[in-house]
Amino acid sequence: MTNANKCNWNKRTAAVHGGTRRSQYGEVSEAMFLTQAFVYDTAEAAEQRFIKSGPDEFIYARYGNPTNRMFEDRLAALEGTEDAFACASGMAAVNGALMALTKAGDHVVSSRALFGSCLYVLEDILGRFGVEITLVDGTDNAAWEAAIREDTSVVFLEAISNPTLEVIDLAHVVKLAHAKGALVVVDNAMPTPVFSYATRLGADLVVYSTTKHVDGQGRMLGGAICGSRELIRGPIETYVKHTGGAINPFAAWTHLKALETMDLRVRTQAESAMQIAEALAGHDKLSDMRYPQHPSHPEHAIAMQQSPSGGTVLAIEVKGGKDACFRFLNALEIFTISNNFADSKSIATHPATTTHQRLPQEQKDTLGISDGLVRLSIGLEDVEDLIRDLERGLNAV
Ligand SMILES: Cc1ncc(COP(=O)(O)O)c(C=O)c1O
Repeated sequence: MTNANKCNWNKRTAAVHGGTRRSQYGEVSEAMFLTQAFVYDTAEAAEQRFIKSGPDEFIYARYGNPTNRMFEDRLAALEGTEDAFACASGMAAVNGALMALTKAGDHVVSSRALFGSCLYVLEDILGRFGVEITLVDGTDNAAWEAAIREDTSVVFLEAISNPTLEVIDLAHVVKLAHAKGALVVVDNAMPTPVFSYATRLGADLVVYSTTKHVDGQGRMLGGAICGSRELIRGPIETYVKHTGGAINPFAAWTHLKALETMDLRVRTQAESAMQIAEALAGHDKLSDMRYPQHPSHPEHAIAMQQSPSGGTVLAIEVKGGKDACFRFLNALEIFTISNNFADSKSIATHPATTTHQRLPQEQKDTLGISDGLVRLSIGLEDVEDLIRDLERGLNAV
């Protein structure tokens, strides 16, 4: 029994009930089907299942599983897409989307400010298989226009870049791409599924690291690709199921339970992020503070046109370089020093020496990954405590 089709629900209802499939026992909480394969009553039934599986029929967990399917249907209902495919991690989803849609000789245009692993997939993997990549400054509308060509097949971007929080004018890029017949793939980690605008503004595929706000509690890796049924059950499913990128049912089940509270968590974290942005703006120990919802953000106008919220992450630049920055980090008592974001625990990350350590200095300079840059992921703690903690850190600079 499934209620996957009730997509006229508002997001908060979809996040709790979307895609629920009940077994014959009528369980309230979603069942976790920890099974690799499925049995058939007869040899004929097995043959039929392999000829064509119905939407509630499964063959092997790498291809699909009832728990995974609930998670996919729930996330698609939230994102407002026809379908979704759940992956083992955000990178399995990014890699799956890009590999499924490209072939040797294709041209891909992407924003330059990308998470390091996304850059690796584009430049090293796709490049190795003969796909031409053009990287542009994602905030420069004219640069997109100049780069997208008649033979461009895919346009890829992080809607809000990690860690520098550059905001892209998505409607503009979608219009340019679609005019040339290219598909737009959006990595939507930063805008969050709660405040997502990618599908509304015309993205063809919306990719999530569900490790981030969906799990949101530092436990499970996961990812998902959301889009039309034609793309998801066509090239995406075919590529991911044959190359082993599917999510495991335990992660899908954990994500299903996490979706029930995601809206509450993310809204609270985003409200705290805005209060922290206000507290830190113009601070004399900082040379920069970036938060899309704060009026000082360079792309504030387009950010607010696209989304009601700036999300759960801020970027600050501590004056005095690496030493000063490390004094700040080491004095924090509530923020943990780590490299993830979107956790219910607040996290401070120094990208130049961790997530982006391997980038050549020239590339760090182009991307704005300075020695003073810190990414602050705002959790669910009391916001006044968080502000006091940041003050404590800055006093140590
Ligand atoms: C923008 C972005 N995309 C993709 C990923 C990859 O996600 P995962 O770690 O779940 O593979 C990350 C992880 O930090 C990210 O920040």
